[in-house]
Amino acid sequence: MAADDKPRFRSGEWFGRADRDGFIYRSWVKNRGVPHDQFDGRPVIGICNTYSELTPCNSHFRTIADHVKQGVLDAGGFPLEFPVMSLGETLLRPTAMLFRNLASMDVEESIRANPIDGVVLLFGCDKTTPALLMGAASCDIPAIGVSGGPMLSGKWRGQDIGSGTGVWQMSEEVRAGRLPIEDFRDAESCMHRSHGHCMTMGTASTMASIVEALGIGLPGNAAIPAVDARRNIIARMAGRRIVDMVRENLKMSKVLTRAAFENAIMALAAIGGSTNAVIHLLAIAARIGVELELEDFDRIGSRLPCLVNLQPSGHYLMEDFYYAGGLPAVLRELGAAGVLHKQALTVNGQSIWDNNQEAPCWNREVIRPYDRPLKPAAGIAVLKGNLAPDGAVIKPAAATAALLKHRGRAVVFEDIDDFYRRIDDERLDIDETCVMVLKNCGPKGYPGMAECGNMPLPPKVLRKGITDMVRISDARMSGTAYGTVVLHAAPEAAAGGALALVRDGDAIELDVAARRLHLAVSDAELARRRAEWQGPPRHLARGYCKLYVEHVLQANRGADLDFLVGKSGAAVPRDNH
Ligand code: FES
Repeated sequence: MAADDKPRFRSGEWFGRADRDGFIYRSWVKNRGVPHDQFDGRPVIGICNTYSELTPCNSHFRTIADHVKQGVLDAGGFPLEFPVMSLGETLLRPTAMLFRNLASMDVEESIRANPIDGVVLLFGCDKTTPALLMGAASCDIPAIGVSGGPMLSGKWRGQDIGSGTGVWQMSEEVRAGRLPIEDFRDAESCMHRSHGHCMTMGTASTMASIVEALGIGLPGNAAIPAVDARRNIIARMAGRRIVDMVRENLKMSKVLTRAAFENAIMALAAIGGSTNAVIHLLAIAARIGVELELEDFDRIGSRLPCLVNLQPSGHYLMEDFYYAGGLPAVLRELGAAGVLHKQALTVNGQSIWDNNQEAPCWNREVIRPYDRPLKPAAGIAVLKGNLAPDGAVIKPAAATAALLKHRGRAVVFEDIDDFYRRIDDERLDIDETCVMVLKNCGPKGYPGMAECGNMPLPPKVLRKGITDMVRISDARMSGTAYGTVVLHAAPEAAAGGALALVRDGDAIELDVAARRLHLAVSDAELARRRAEWQGPPRHLARGYCKLYVEHVLQANRGADLDFLVGKSGAAVPRDNH
């Protein structure tokens, strides 16, 4: 296309002009040696990179981006890589989740404000995936997701150890006095020994699988290890494919349909995926304009079996999952059982069934057949009751079956500081029949809804060899964690939810089969307590945290900021000079 022809793509509004602004838009880009014929109207592809040395799981993303770039060039596109805020789960305080929405704003505005026709989203560590999908969805241009891939399996003293899951297990052994602290430290160097994200079916692997199940990533995206050459190949193929997606105007909204989200919910059950995916999928759906509700996870997913034998629900790790066939083998099982929306379109232009109907499985111990699952009816259950009128979630696949129906005496912690102050105190009045309740750890309360819902058990219970108790909170839980843990109670305590009214000694009834979470206290008494209730103190005078606390939605609505819900498209009406 000549510089003054009518532009075919949105980047032409920058680069395809003969006027003063066209000079400005092109000339500065040429400063690194871009020849003029690069501005001939070819698709400009943004490579949205969450590389950061502060995000260890994404520390190989410069290499991934180079392979995407090569793919874009292969297909005749013009690649332009750009950074966005990266979110490292292990280093960010008070919790990476506090910044998911901030990063999504960075992504959205970076895409819209720049001459980008299509975008490749590079994500890995937990929150980077939803942040990039949310931001890009609000622009709704062609987009394809590339996950960085999981780490190789952890190896310690002849056995596999999984990210997170192994930490939770070993730290409880230390607290019970059964594992020396020196051994615990020794495991540090053995657990994470290659590039990549957590290699259990934690939130990162869950979201990488969700990307594939939604059809917004290429087949195979979920499981190829970060250091396997095939991870670079899938990055290159994504770079090639996005150029054609721009030519076909295959926008995100054509892929992220209601059917795609339902497929993601089904896949979430089949992989025994993280409860965090519930919040992220609700938020992504609300951005792209698909109606999705918390109850959909129960209705669509809870009766489906868990097929994937990976920690924390099972035994193996992501490397094993890849060698066994990865998510394509799981999607084939779901499709063959008649529970997949087979016609859902994916980014390669094929339906999800076209992509996966012939997918082989090489290890039936790792990926079970639909009629011989790891666990039946294992999807996320949504609980309701006077303790969580807007819902709470539990992952039965990671819980103790005997505790799924339980009545116990509440032992209440007012916030996370109160919890850590008292949990190791031998005088704490608690035993394994009690229900541990943690308040003020939700979106507004923490703030950011930290992953502290899987409260460590008191040492005196651990010493009896007991490893699980019923725990209830408005917090989240790491996708690598496990236990009979009720999460995301909404409304949260800090927003005046009933959780705020629980007191030591109250009886709490959990009945997962009946989807019931009940505080056995009379309405009159609860009304009296509510009249006395004073919200937690606020110390957020300025900055992003203030904005977040004032605008964050509750967990059952995806914990997005209220003014970010929906999309604005990609149009920008004005030049910059
Ligand atoms: Fe990054 Fe687990 S810490 S994925």
